[in-house]
Amino acid sequence: MSLKNKVAFITGAAHGQGRATALALAGEGVHIVALDIAKPLAYPGYDLGSPDDLATLKTAVESMGVGCLTFKGDVRIDSDVKFAVQEALSRFDKIDILFNNAGICAYGLAHELTEEAWDSMIDINLKGAWIVARNIIPSMIARKSGNIINNSSIAGLRGMNRLSHYAASKWGLVGLTKSWAIELAPYNIRVNSIHPTGVNTPMNDGLAALEGKTTEQIAEASAGNLLPVPWIETEDVASAVLYLVSDGARYVTGTQLVLDAGLLTR
Ligand SMILES: NC(=O)c1ccc[n+]([C@@H]2O[C@H](COP(=O)([O-])OP(=O)(O)OC[C@H]3O[C@@H](n4cnc5c(N)ncnc54)[C@H](O)[C@@H]3O)[C@@H](O)[C@H]2O)c1
Repeated sequence: MSLKNKVAFITGAAHGQGRATALALAGEGVHIVALDIAKPLAYPGYDLGSPDDLATLKTAVESMGVGCLTFKGDVRIDSDVKFAVQEALSRFDKIDILFNNAGICAYGLAHELTEEAWDSMIDINLKGAWIVARNIIPSMIARKSGNIINNSSIAGLRGMNRLSHYAASKWGLVGLTKSWAIELAPYNIRVNSIHPTGVNTPMNDGLAALEGKTTEQIAEASAGNLLPVPWIETEDVASAVLYLVSDGARYVTGTQLVLDAGLLTR
């Protein structure tokens, strides 16, 4: 059942859920390959990860006795991804786990969105996941082994006010998850998506600043959890990923694991 000496490729790993998952996997003996854009983007306009975040992640992961490669790269750019994947394969020989986690969020009514906003959202959250996966899947097929997890959202299972482009990207990830699960099952590669409610990450802090609200107000407005919490923590997401990549989930594929503090119940 051990994850020791497995290799995980994690996008958007500089901070938030990607970082917490990298640290949790490293704690189980997994070598980490972290890719993050690590620079601000005009859209969504809040702070993304930084080179400093990547450097501190590397130090923290290596202090747990496992290897760590970090790459500053954009999931939308095939050459960035290809370089990171090739370096990872030459250092570790394999990639066992892909956590497609990089993503942005921003508010806007559908009829007021610019085309640039629409394209950024879909290109990062949806096309980016495909770009990364298509660079990694061939090596998983060759080894007849692999595990892919796409970080969607509750917005990938419901409609959300002023988030139609975000929801469209996250519903799209469900389509990728289910279709890849079918394509890759013959090669013993499992593919699942996770669907968190609001998570306590820099993303929500950034959205709150843009909206002139507190982070808690943002979480409550966009969520409405059944359990009395405004959000879940990054460790809750990491736990779900650890379960999905474990042998305990060996027959779980094509599924949507909901981490919503009960939100979708009503
Ligand atoms: N925070 C939430 O409430 C919440 C809820 C459900 C799902 N999600 C999803 O979880 C994932 C992680 O979000 P988070 O809350 O940790 O956000 P975050 O903003 O804290 O972290 C996202 C990371 O992705 C990186 N990134 C953004 N665009 C990138 C690109 N083009 N290429 C490479 N890296 C890029 C950022 O630099 C950042 O480090 C996202 O896909 C998000 O949509 C978030």
